[in-house]
Amino acid sequence: MSSNNNDFFVIKAMEDGVNVIGLTRGTDTRFHHSEKLDRGEVMIAQFTEHTSAVKVRGKAVIQTSHGEMTNESDD
Ligand code: TRP
Repeated sequence: MSSNNNDFFVIKAMEDGVNVIGLTRGTDTRFHHSEKLDRGEVMIAQFTEHTSAVKVRGKAVIQTSHGEMTNESDD
């Protein structure tokens, strides 16, 4: 059985320079990808065999199967 699910999550940047950072699955938890989004850009992604957690830095709307949330700006 896979530890992943196939749900997508959506991140919409509400300011320039929002960072979406993917963290590795497994015992070694580290950053493996940083995607920079400018205001209005949308990233649609999944958790995968390689990615078990995501960190979002900057003002963005985040939709997941757990609901929708808005985080605050960095400044
Ligand atoms: N190569 C990554 C992976 O398959 C791509 C990726 C998927 C990703 N979901 C992500 C990168 C979320 C950052 C955030 O796992």
